[in-house]
Amino acid sequence: MYEILQKIIKHPQKVQVDEIALILSKEEINVKLFALADEIRQRYLGKTVYIRGIIEFSNYCKNSCLYCGIRAQNKDISRYRMSVEQIIERARLVSQMGIKTVVLQSGEDTHYSDKIIAQIIEKIKEFKVAITLSIGERDFNEYKLWKEAGADRYLMRHETADEELYSKLHPNDSFRTRVEHLKKLRELGYEVGVGSMVGLPGQDDLSLAKDISFVRDFDADMVGIGPFIPHPSTPLRDAQPGTLTKTLKMIALTRLFLPDTNIPATTALGTIHPLGRQLALKCGANVIMPNFTPAPYRSLYTLYPNKICIFESDTACGECTKELIRSAGYTASDDFGYRRKFYERVTCRF
Ligand code: 5AD
Ligand code: FES
Repeated sequence: MYEILQKIIKHPQKVQVDEIALILSKEEINVKLFALADEIRQRYLGKTVYIRGIIEFSNYCKNSCLYCGIRAQNKDISRYRMSVEQIIERARLVSQMGIKTVVLQSGEDTHYSDKIIAQIIEKIKEFKVAITLSIGERDFNEYKLWKEAGADRYLMRHETADEELYSKLHPNDSFRTRVEHLKKLRELGYEVGVGSMVGLPGQDDLSLAKDISFVRDFDADMVGIGPFIPHPSTPLRDAQPGTLTKTLKMIALTRLFLPDTNIPATTALGTIHPLGRQLALKCGANVIMPNFTPAPYRSLYTLYPNKICIFESDTACGECTKELIRSAGYTASDDFGYRRKFYERVTCRF
């Protein structure tokens, strides 16, 4: 197994999915894998952690992803939409805290037209921050308009690279379509973020290995990985959640394959384990995304149950994440946090 780790470092393109699956299946390799991921992370990115303030501005969604708490069919939640002014004011607050990236996230909600989103982007750009959009699949000409308006990055997880599983979880949607959208975003000049859930029903180590090989082949600029957490108002309510260890392994492997990519310590990981995010930072993650959604909306953006930070006020998460980074032994960065592209790989000795 050590040979496989060595191969990942030296010849990542040559690694086969079954080799990745083997690493995922063996517990004995974990300590070595985690240490190596942190070593690579520190070699390429030092100890810095980038902070992104996230504003979840609408929980309306036209989709019906089987795992998601804000799926259109869920009648048990109250829906909200923030106004343009409210969104801009929140973004101002993020920038006033010295945070240089604003992430705008929502369900797939076409109530916000292409022009409204462009208008929001232009206004927020006045605060001199990087803007990440995370609002799902839209028309290609809309992506173009928003790029021109000043958006820098687009997050759209691939969710699972197991095509069959993707189809089961996303009625009327396909992995192929998702990849076409991701390619288009890249072509338009966005930094593109993908990512997946760990522990989905029907997902095995080979499926997870496909996620790793997908992010490698796509050369993703950002990779968000979190455990699946069953939501009581979805068809997957009785499924088992993803585990901390497997999620950390996925993060660590992603770091080995993409030494310079941006990997968040996700809120979902912080939800299944009190130290989930700190542990992620020690296993290769280098980004954290404090919640800046205002009350009363914050508690309504429930993709999964028991989400942390629901009762924290306004800026509490911004402060808390800085402390969290310190407590894990890393340094909060006040940089924009674009992907640092290293074209030459540093050879690792271990
Ligand atoms: N458990 C964990 N993560 C979820 N997401 C959606 N629903 C769940 C859930 N039940 C993730 C998806 C989505 C991201 C915003 O949240 O991967 O892309
Ligand atoms: Fe929200 Fe710590 S990040 S309370």
